Amino acid sequence: MDLSGKYYKAFTDRQSAIEKQYSTKQAEKQHSKGKLTAHERINLLFDKNTFEEIDAFVTPADQPVEFGKVERSYGDGVIVGHGKVNGRLVFAYAQDFTIMGGSLGIVHAKKIAKIQEMALKMGSPIIALIDSGGARIQEGVASLSGYAAIFQNIIHSSGIIPQISVIMGPAAGGAVYSPALTDFVFMVNHTSYMFVTGPNVVKEVLNEDVTLEGLGGAEVHARKSGVAHMIYDDEENTILALKKFLSYLPSNNVENPPVVSDDGSINEINEKLRDIIPEDPNKAYDVKDVIAQIVDRNSLFETSELFGANLVTGFARLNGKTIGVVANQPKVLAGVLDIDSSTKGARFIRFCDAFNIPIITFEDVPGFLPGVDQEHAGIIRHGAKLLFAYSEATVPKITIILRKAYGGAFIVMNSKNLGGDFSFAWPSAEIAVMGPDGAVAILYRKELAESKNPVELKKELVKKYRDKIANPFIADESGYIDEVIDPAVTRKKILSALNALNNKWVKVPARKHGNMPL
Ligand code: HXC
Repeated sequence: MDLSGKYYKAFTDRQSAIEKQYSTKQAEKQHSKGKLTAHERINLLFDKNTFEEIDAFVTPADQPVEFGKVERSYGDGVIVGHGKVNGRLVFAYAQDFTIMGGSLGIVHAKKIAKIQEMALKMGSPIIALIDSGGARIQEGVASLSGYAAIFQNIIHSSGIIPQISVIMGPAAGGAVYSPALTDFVFMVNHTSYMFVTGPNVVKEVLNEDVTLEGLGGAEVHARKSGVAHMIYDDEENTILALKKFLSYLPSNNVENPPVVSDDGSINEINEKLRDIIPEDPNKAYDVKDVIAQIVDRNSLFETSELFGANLVTGFARLNGKTIGVVANQPKVLAGVLDIDSSTKGARFIRFCDAFNIPIITFEDVPGFLPGVDQEHAGIIRHGAKLLFAYSEATVPKITIILRKAYGGAFIVMNSKNLGGDFSFAWPSAEIAVMGPDGAVAILYRKELAESKNPVELKKELVKKYRDKIANPFIADESGYIDEVIDPAVTRKKILSALNALNNKWVKVPARKHGNMPL
């Protein structure tokens, strides 16, 4: 096409002006901080030549106040648009820190709100690539209302389309709530941070010295606060992981996740599972080794790996179809349920339920973590979230009891009477109100106190308790579980249970919403 004619002059002038705007100088600024530019991030995320930018030429709002200055830039510091990721439609916005620190003015906010609404209408995931100093100070309340509109859109789309945030620089002030409202948060180690109030305010108000990284770096949020679900060492790896992650998810809540082809290398009958649990019931093992022998090869994508690590959550595949995995981890705190693992599990289960992902639970849990710290911090309230989430979920729910299933934890971890669809137990399962030591100490307190050889007597009673009570056969014979199975056939059993649940349909009573104990 010949663009030299008079009608095209304004068009081509604008094109060269915008190219100049995203000059190499700005790129160097980002690169010198170990960060990519917004365009580079977008190019990494989308399949080649599929991204279509919209609103590239909008300009910032005129300022009513005389304070500072607003740069007259095209795009107002954010790139928005849509394209294909692994061949599927995805919407995204990428904030451009080189323009007013990626700060959010009203026009910037309206661009984001526009594609949020489009993503919802088209039933497509939306990705936020965040690199921003937060609300644009010069634009005052207008920028705050811009944030409010973005939050409102996220909440309206919650449970309808997957919404994922990737923090690739600062996310400060109230601006952290936009990622916090989305389904999953990725962070880049050492170059991203999130906090409600920064180190300067912390110093002023509390006289505490803390660095950006120490206050709200990726490690802190992945290990301690649980705000970040996935962290990676650089931006390329973060975006690559995000693309892989998206491949497990459906585009929206009325679709099923995409099915990939399975290499068939995990046998339906797998004898390795027969001796994967140690003979000594108190010996730890890694539940991820068990999962790896059951799901499609290398298909586990763990979420919140570093937070509440006594519960493993993540997506995996069975015959190429996505499943959500929830598994107690005996290797960490003996797999006990505490506050962090309960909230982590509850949130993961709710995501799976919203997006038609069956939940497979691998259970080996001695109970809830006792102690003053946990009680005072609200283990009752937080443990109830896990209970609520399991019970409320209507997707197919299957449990495999590997070993310990004691007390309230047996009930919580998707027991049949809580709405679990299928419950299988391995012969190594121990299902009872409490563990042998605790039970013997309570039931035989007097006898043990009066015994000449209490150690020997306790040993005898513990053995008797294991033989008579803490095994899977009583639950099996009374129908509280469906079947004690040979561990070797676990994959086969799960697959046939999922097959049976293909058309599962649950009628939920009409109500505005339940009242989860938040
Ligand atoms: C306008 C901003 C800005 C902002 C940064 N800039 N944040 N402009 N509004 N919020 C501008 C800077 O003036 C600077 O412009 C350029 O962006 C780069 O910023 P630097 O400070 O030079 O970069 P750096 O040293 O890397 O520090 C980044 C930063 C810092 C830590 C993010 O800029 C900062 O503390 N910003 C303010 C963060 C904040 O408190 N935001 C408001 C939160 S309240 P020049 O022209 O010099 O290049 C909020 C309310 C949301 O967000 C409400 C929702 C409920």
